[in-house]
Order: sequence, then C-alpha cells, then structure tokens
Amino acid sequence: MGPIGIFDSGYGGLTVLGKIRKALPNYDFLYLGDNARAPYGNRSFDVVHEFTWQAVQFLFSQGCPLIILACNTASAKALRTIQQTQLPIHFPDKRVLGVIRPSTESISEWTKTNHVGVLGTQGTIQSNSYAIELEKFAPEVKLFQHACSMWVPLIENNYHESPAGKEIISDDVNQLLTMSEKIDTIVLACTHYPLIENQISKIAGPTIQVFSQGEIVAKKLVAYLQNHQEIDANISKDASISYFTTEHPSVFNDKASMFLGESVAASHVHL
Ligand code: DGL
Repeated sequence: MGPIGIFDSGYGGLTVLGKIRKALPNYDFLYLGDNARAPYGNRSFDVVHEFTWQAVQFLFSQGCPLIILACNTASAKALRTIQQTQLPIHFPDKRVLGVIRPSTESISEWTKTNHVGVLGTQGTIQSNSYAIELEKFAPEVKLFQHACSMWVPLIENNYHESPAGKEIISDDVNQLLTMSEKIDTIVLACTHYPLIENQISKIAGPTIQVFSQGEIVAKKLVAYLQNHQEIDANISKDASISYFTTEHPSVFNDKASMFLGESVAASHVHL
C-alpha cells in the first residue's frame, strides 16, 4: 500500500492536489515538484519526457501505486509514451494518469456555442493534445488555442499583479478572444493559471466562463477509483501528505504555501 503520487514541474500541481484532497480526504498523498528544472513549458518533447519519467520512477520507488501528472505540459509530452510503452514493460501493475483527458471529456458540457478557447504553455499548445483528445469526445467543438509563454514565470515570481504583468496577461487573453467572437468558454490548460483565474475572468467579461482543472480532475479521479477497485485497494488511507522538491526545501516551502493556502515542510530529492 502507498500514497497517490502527484507530480508537477513546480508548484502548479498544488492547485490540483488541493481539490483532490478535498474529494478524497482520507487518502495519502505524496507531492513531487521538479522545481529545480521548472518551467517545463518551453522545453522539447524529449527533455519533458525524460524529466517526467525520472519523476514517475521516483514516485514509484516511494510506493505510489498511482500517479497523477498534475501538469499539462508533462501530460501533453510524456504521458502517452509512459502509458503505452514504459509502464507495460517496467511497472505493469502501476498507473499514471494526466489532466488533459478529464478536461476534454467535460468541455462539451460547458460550452453552448461550441467555440472554446484554451490557454496553456507553449509546450501544451504546440503539442495540440487538447485538439487531439477533444476530437474523440466532442468533434463538434471548435478549439482556439493560445500559448501564454510568460505566465508561469510571472506567477511563480509573483509579478502577475504588477502593471507589466497585468498587461501581458490582458494581451494574451485578448489575443485568444480575437480568434473567435463566439468563444463562451476558456479552459485554463495549465495548473498554474488558477492563481490568476479572477484576473482572466475580469478580462474575458461576464459572458465567458473560465474553467480551472482541479475540480474536474478530482471528480474524474474519484470515479476512476470507484471503477478500479484493484488500484484503490493499494492506496493507503491515513490522511497523510508529504512533499518532495528538487529545489532547496526552504524555497519550495515559501512559495508552496502561496499555492496551497497552508504551510508545508518539503524534503529534498535529486532525480
Ligand atoms: N504547471 C504546468 C502545466 O500545467 C506548467 C508549468 C511549466 O511550464 O513548467 O502545464
């Protein structure tokens, strides 16, 4: 038995962890942030895959039977290879899930105009993963995508409310909205973006709904565990949580509390 592993390149996955913990309060969790090598957003496929696979192996070595890649960039660039090629050979009894599928499964429930905007890192948008996944669940939906290359560093450095930060954010949202007047839904396809959800909603205006992924990932995970009792049976349930970071723990602890709304005490790991 072991905890559910939650992985992100940095702090963004904490926004997902917060929602998952609410939905599964008795479960154990182990969070890993690869903060020393973040952001992943502008990195190549090969590098994101290599870093993510190292993280997955570490979380398995800690006893996690199931890992959630709470990072769109890792889900877009590494998940498929890990699920289809590496797990069957190296860890046939373990599971790794991402955050893109839960979102694309839900998009058609949210939009009325079938014109949906997606904001993400350069890596997520360039991979076209949202469009590819959406084609399976809602081919009638037209997707408009825009990469916000500066947002993760802005958020991590707490510059998103500075005048320059606000201007960059507003410019990116408006670039997305000029792609179609009919967009009625914006999906925040990066786990860092919930921290600026209010800012984005204000720019988008009252007729456009803005969705973060945390709640939907949590809801789909609960359903997954109900349908996969053999995985659920291997997850320990003592309501414990521990944190690992590839950065210095003091750096992680400071910023993590901003994302999670409570203080944390992380341990260091070198991947
Ligand atoms: N939080 C990650 C995501 O959801 C991206 C952060 C990064 O660029 O490393 O895409």
